[in-house]
Amino acid sequence: MQQTFNTNEIPVGVVGLGLMGCSITVCLLIAGHPVVAIAPIPVDLEHAEERIKHHLIKSREEELITNDPEFYLANLIITEDYSKLKDCRLIIECTIENVDIKKSVYKKITDVVSNDALITSNTSAIPISILQKHAPNPERFFGLHWAEPSHTTRFLEVICGEQSDISKGEYLYVLSHYWGKEPTLVRKDIRGFIGNRLMYAMYREAFYLVENGYATVEDVDRACRNNTGYWMTLAGVFRWMDLTGVPAYHTVLTDLFPTLNNSTEVPKLIDDIVKDGGKGVANAKGFYDYTPEEAKLWDETFHEFSYEIRRLALKYPADVVKKKLQQKNDEKEDK
Ligand SMILES: NC(=O)c1ccc[n+]([C@@H]2O[C@H](COP(=O)([O-])OP(=O)(O)OC[C@H]3O[C@@H](n4cnc5c(N)ncnc54)[C@H](O)[C@@H]3O)[C@@H](O)[C@H]2O)c1
Repeated sequence: MQQTFNTNEIPVGVVGLGLMGCSITVCLLIAGHPVVAIAPIPVDLEHAEERIKHHLIKSREEELITNDPEFYLANLIITEDYSKLKDCRLIIECTIENVDIKKSVYKKITDVVSNDALITSNTSAIPISILQKHAPNPERFFGLHWAEPSHTTRFLEVICGEQSDISKGEYLYVLSHYWGKEPTLVRKDIRGFIGNRLMYAMYREAFYLVENGYATVEDVDRACRNNTGYWMTLAGVFRWMDLTGVPAYHTVLTDLFPTLNNSTEVPKLIDDIVKDGGKGVANAKGFYDYTPEEAKLWDETFHEFSYEIRRLALKYPADVVKKKLQQKNDEKEDK
């Protein structure tokens, strides 16, 4: 990294304190930023502080942090008052996936922050080029796409819209290393960015296989976990092809690609669940049936696993081989 920063001197605002807003807040506090966390709806105030504290307690238990939660919480303000964002250099909007709501939130943010602050959205799939039209300084507007739970995951996409100033995107890219990320800079806006385009191609095929009777939900999940799940934290799709022999992929895709699903309809399987009020583990109603206790245990297990896989990911960063080479060369020089 060429640039160095003192994160303590970069106050960050997080707007929206749902699932992701809380874990993003935790990630930023751990990185040393003062954080102003805005609750756009009163219900956020009921759970945000407790959720943030819970993440910090767990992070301490898992040795992700070395101080008590209170140390980090001293750097946090939770409020409904947007004017407290005034001195923030960076804002991360994290409200529900709805353009009109996000638009109204940008108005409240830009009414108070300075003109040179950076404004970002954690949108999953709304093009940044559309969202940035609602900011007075679109060149300072970016996507910052996190993965839950944000304080343990290494994923982050920094996305430039059509009007974004790429040099500011590069600044966010460098800064996000201080948040424990291994980021991707998406230099040209595309719907779904990188991660979701890859994931949704897989979801589409998964729905196709189940809806057409090739396999059950359980079988598709099992294949996914034990095939891609086994190597993805190390390799990524291109490295995987390198590791296992490129010509075989060339041969297989020639015959397989024409048979893959390319439907543009919402699959009935998910449509029925959503119309019936199913949210997944959150209300024990999804692709699987859960008792409330099972749903709670799945949620806990997911969080437990996220710490575990983080440890593994840290052991195998993107430049793992470069580091091994360096170590070997150092050892040679020492001899
Ligand atoms: N959940 C994920 O894994 C995930 C991953 C990446 C990106 N995202 C994106 O992050 C954003 C937030 O997702 P989440 O999972 O935290 O959602 P969530 O439902 O947990 O939280 C949504 C938050 O939106 C705000 N909100 C709700 N109604 C509002 C209103 N009328 N006006 C202003 N604010 C309102 C509140 O702060 C609420 O807590 C979305 O854009 C989502 O697509 C989510």
